[in-house]
Amino acid sequence: MTARVLLVSPDGMLGRAFESELSGDAAVELHCLRYPAIDLTRPDTLEAITLLEPRVVINCAAYTDVDGAESNEALATSINGDGVGALAARCRSIGATLVHFGTDYVFDGHGSSPYPIDAPVAPAGAYARSKARGEVLLGESGVDHLYVRTSWLYAPWAKNFVRTIARHAKTRAELKVVDDQRGRPTSSEHLARTALALLEGGARGTFHVTDGGECTWFELARFVVAELGLADRCTVLPCTSAEYPTPTKRPPYSVLDLSKTEARVGPMPDWRTQVRDVLGRLEPL
Ligand SMILES: NC(=O)c1ccc[n+]([C@@H]2O[C@H](COP(=O)([O-])OP(=O)(O)OC[C@H]3O[C@@H](n4cnc5c(N)ncnc54)[C@H](OP(=O)(O)O)[C@@H]3O)[C@@H](O)[C@H]2O)c1
Repeated sequence: MTARVLLVSPDGMLGRAFESELSGDAAVELHCLRYPAIDLTRPDTLEAITLLEPRVVINCAAYTDVDGAESNEALATSINGDGVGALAARCRSIGATLVHFGTDYVFDGHGSSPYPIDAPVAPAGAYARSKARGEVLLGESGVDHLYVRTSWLYAPWAKNFVRTIARHAKTRAELKVVDDQRGRPTSSEHLARTALALLEGGARGTFHVTDGGECTWFELARFVVAELGLADRCTVLPCTSAEYPTPTKRPPYSVLDLSKTEARVGPMPDWRTQVRDVLGRLEPL
């Protein structure tokens, strides 16, 4: 017997990872809905979910422009907050399990040890507030759910830090990258596989999934350039966030604690192993 799974927004960075993971799974009858057929700002479009009657809904739709959210908070909240609440209510009404994703940015970012699942939520910027509202509404909805906070996503495709550094390293003699923000990079593909393993293992509630290890953006960039064999042509230099002000202040420390996840599905592979794997498969830059 196959399980009917609905993937919401299969074209984003994480959505693509889920689609490729699930499309070859004989135990899954995969359906995809993309914007504008499904628009989290328009609850009427959620009727499509009711008609499909999926057993599981995986939500990869989000407003992810962290800086843009500062001047578009209403839209970010409509998608990441109220939209998620409406999606959760709809899933509950048809008895579907909802898989949804959150961010390290919901924490205050001033810690010095990994943030546990139940650390106090204290979002600093508009994007983080919108995602925090989504967390609250998901919990209040009463839907059967798996909620996964993650951070610093990369993949062989889409706009992400690893691809951006790989592109710049080919044409620039020097790159300055912030060295005062510490976190955990996350392979989107490994995240999708881990979320599915948690789901299949019956995990429900909140989990953290990232790569293992931790680093700063500078350390990640230096690794990418070295792995591409470009270190003699492109020098990566550390700098401070103050040298590169952005509309949203990024958390200096946003390492997510993985112990609950690792107790269920084993250790998360180190970020260096995962980044190396992705660098070998980068789509044209
Ligand atoms: N990227 C990261 O580093 C990161 C870090 C922590 C957590 N996360 C979380 O991980 C999840 C996946 O992120 P991602 O990087 O894969 O995102 P992404 O690449 O930006 O993809 C988001 C998808 O949502 C779609 N979308 C936008 N507005 C929509 C709406 N109103 N209704 C329905 N779909 C809409 C987008 O479509 P269009 O492309 O057509 O706009 C896009 O396909 C999100 O929940 C995000 O908050 C990401």
